[in-house]
Amino acid sequence: MGLLDYDSIAYAIGERIVELGGRVIYTAQNERMSRIFLERGAREAAHARRDLDVRYCDVTIDEEIRKLFDEVGPVAGVVHSIAYANPRTCLGEEFHTDAVADVLQSYHISSASFARVVHYAVPRMPEGGAALALTFDTTRVYPFYNWMGVHKAALEAIVRALARRHGRDLVRVNAISSGPLHSKAASKIPGFGKLDRIWSMSSPLPWDTRADKVEVANAAAFLLGPLSRKITGQILYVDGGAAIITGELQPHELDPSRASASAAP
Ligand SMILES: NC(=O)c1ccc[n+]([C@@H]2O[C@H](COP(=O)([O-])OP(=O)(O)OC[C@H]3O[C@@H](n4cnc5c(N)ncnc54)[C@H](O)[C@@H]3O)[C@@H](O)[C@H]2O)c1
Repeated sequence: MGLLDYDSIAYAIGERIVELGGRVIYTAQNERMSRIFLERGAREAAHARRDLDVRYCDVTIDEEIRKLFDEVGPVAGVVHSIAYANPRTCLGEEFHTDAVADVLQSYHISSASFARVVHYAVPRMPEGGAALALTFDTTRVYPFYNWMGVHKAALEAIVRALARRHGRDLVRVNAISSGPLHSKAASKIPGFGKLDRIWSMSSPLPWDTRADKVEVANAAAFLLGPLSRKITGQILYVDGGAAIITGELQPHELDPSRASASAAP
């Protein structure tokens, strides 16, 4: 769930599942957005597949989530790859905001909706299954990320609460904490380029904000499939290792190409 265009993490995960022999039903927020972003993208992106099964679901409308899972029938897993926060009020240089309604809306979309999705998805997993959310490092406080950082912390708490609740249903609930990746949502984060730089200076493994989407998709396939049958309530970091590092890596810890970039003024 959360297909906006061919840069969406949801698309990368779906493609990987298809490569591994699975069948994928995508959801987009609504038909209008799908027309604008997905159809235009299909003309531009060489790798775009046009035969996608796309349904519509606005996760702030409970009835749409219920109807979606009524219609899809049995599923092995569900991925919540959805977030939104008004960039003018919830992200940026100033953390404080008067726009409390925007904060609550972004919490609803980015955090609480995962619980509603899982609520309606679990009955469609009669023999058990997996639910997965996408988060971003909540162990540190990043510039500009403001309320989305708060909502990701809530999302991770919801992952753990759902893992406790749905063990009895044999449904595993986990999240992937991804490093920064190029997408529409990321492009709306003021100062996203700075996150990119933070990663290039703090990730022990090289991190590519475009190419490494596939690594997130690989981890998603693992967490959705049988190889992770006893893993639940976990946040799996797919971030090149940046979240464990304090400050920047030292020049002697970098490979030569990154060391020369870090030395540049
Ligand atoms: N891109 C990154 O750097 C990065 C890093 C870590 C985590 N994430 C997380 O990955 C997930 C996917 O983001 P992305 O980077 O693929 O961006 P994206 O813009 O492609 O996806 C965000 C999706 O959320 C959907 N959405 C927003 N409001 C909605 C609503 N009310 N109902 C239904 N859908 C709604 C959008 O339509 C879009 O499809 C998000 O949870 C994001 O926070 C992204």
